[in-house]
Amino acid sequence: MAHIKCIGVLTSGGDAPGMNAAIRAVTRAAIYNGYRVVGIKRGYYGLVYNEMEEFTSRSVSNIIHHGGTILKTARCKEFTTAEGRRIAHDNMVAAGIDALVVIGGDGSLSGARIFAEEFDVPVVGLPGTIDNDLGGTDMTIGYDTALNTIVDAVDKIRDTATSHERLFFVEVMGHMAGYLALNGAIASGAEAAIIPEMETEIDQLADLVSRGFRKSKNSAIVLVAENPETGGALGLAERVKREFPEYDARVTILGHLQRGGSPTAADRILASRMGAQAITALCEGQRNVMIGIKNGELVYVPFSKATTNKRSIEAAQTDIVKILSI
Ligand code: F6P
Repeated sequence: MAHIKCIGVLTSGGDAPGMNAAIRAVTRAAIYNGYRVVGIKRGYYGLVYNEMEEFTSRSVSNIIHHGGTILKTARCKEFTTAEGRRIAHDNMVAAGIDALVVIGGDGSLSGARIFAEEFDVPVVGLPGTIDNDLGGTDMTIGYDTALNTIVDAVDKIRDTATSHERLFFVEVMGHMAGYLALNGAIASGAEAAIIPEMETEIDQLADLVSRGFRKSKNSAIVLVAENPETGGALGLAERVKREFPEYDARVTILGHLQRGGSPTAADRILASRMGAQAITALCEGQRNVMIGIKNGELVYVPFSKATTNKRSIEAAQTDIVKILSI
């Protein structure tokens, strides 16, 4: 393996609060260890279209507290083709970049795995997504901030739900994973969470109604994980109108506000630790791994495991919402 002199860093896919803290950590840890750093703009798009810039330690000053990503991000169609990846590799070599740190979610790390295998390039990934849906890690960068944003929003919705004695469906993101909905429900004291992981097992709406949630309560809040297949919160509200017309249901879709905002301390610390570890990993000769965190310890997770071994949600976790909402 050729000696690494220059590391490229990019953010890809949906942005997540804490990505800037991760870029800062990667850049400074790399420079501290004697590497050059190149910031690649707009994810893989910047590799394909040569949008890159030499970074100094000052390039990442005053960004740790900002949401979004100073490198911009994109979902790059060209990089999904063999020809696009070949151009990306040629540009990377021409820029003198010999290793990459990719900060992103599922799709971005799948792209990283293919690229690393095709061109024998050392690539280390950082889990950057609000969805918390990657294998081999207890937490992804951005998840804690998004969760706090959800809780803040639900606290406000509860005021109006209580005043009007209404049933509210609050739809949250998650890309077919229920972590934001489930833990958002636990943290905000919601009456239920409707998540894709449980869809095949029970009719979650019928279960909620059969529990008689309205009998002793004058309002209810249900967190719903986005789900294009079932229509998410809007689909459920339609069903309520048809099947349970006695309930006065309303829908709030939190949408992209969940992806913004200043990262929490937990996300800044996670991003800083993971970013520095990405450089340690490259120094140690690691490649094609994502940095994960398990029981507080940083671990190396092969890309194949990170992108395919999705964690399941245990029944004990979903039961908590039920038990605590009586
Ligand atoms: O993966 C992050 C995420 O925010 C998902 O929760 C959501 O489904 C998706 O990205 C939305 O993507 P876009 O910003 O392209 O609408």
